[in-house]
Amino acid sequence: MRDVLEAFFKLRKPTSYLEIGLGDGRNFESVPLEDKVCISPNGSVQSGRLLRGTSDGIFAASWPYNVDRFFEMVFIDGFHSANQVTRDLSNVLLRTQKDSVILIHDVNPFYPPYHEIEERTLPEKLNNGHAWMGNVWKIIFEIHNWMEQLDYVLIKDKPGWLVAWYNDQLLLRDEYINKPSSNSEMLNLIEDGTIVYYPLQEAIQQYIQKGGPVK
Ligand SMILES: C[S@@+](CC[C@H](N)C(=O)[O-])C[C@H]1O[C@@H](n2cnc3c(N)ncnc32)[C@H](O)[C@@H]1O
Repeated sequence: MRDVLEAFFKLRKPTSYLEIGLGDGRNFESVPLEDKVCISPNGSVQSGRLLRGTSDGIFAASWPYNVDRFFEMVFIDGFHSANQVTRDLSNVLLRTQKDSVILIHDVNPFYPPYHEIEERTLPEKLNNGHAWMGNVWKIIFEIHNWMEQLDYVLIKDKPGWLVAWYNDQLLLRDEYINKPSSNSEMLNLIEDGTIVYYPLQEAIQQYIQKGGPVK
């Protein structure tokens, strides 16, 4: 299992797991749970269950479970555009509940300078051999500004992770009620220390201190 995922897996000890985006399947196969589900348009799995299709299609049209089917841990790592990850998170919020942990991959815009990229371009041209991480990083600001029901911590490790969980109460972040209107405005929040990426061990401390679910 990927190291960041493994660290939060150990803290939360989930009994159910949902991954969006299978990739080569190595991560999904290494998750030591029977109750694990992956949503992806391609690939195949040896363990758990693959819901084959795009995340939009599965959530909107062919969700095979009851409405009370919730997951204790979710890893969002499908199509890497800000709009898609926003929709994925919105759907995941309907499939998670208090004590669930949600991880989102590819949120560090400084590796390489992805924050300058708005839309998908040819990966090889864009990334100098690095995997495409799109503009997923914008989800930080969606969560920070609009999803008061979530707390989160950011992990610096390339290419960046966001770990989110539900608050006990709604906290209104009055000082940020205005949605930043540009990339540079958003990045100012990083530069002024409002948004901080932590190394993994510090992120774990933050998670525990801020009341992230631990079993
Ligand atoms: C970065 S890879 C996932 C890596 C994997 N989670 C891991 O940790 O090894 C992204 C995957 O998302 C899948 N994908 C692309 N568009 C998708 C969509 N709309 N819904 C779900 N998955 C999608 C791709 O097929 C690809 O397998």
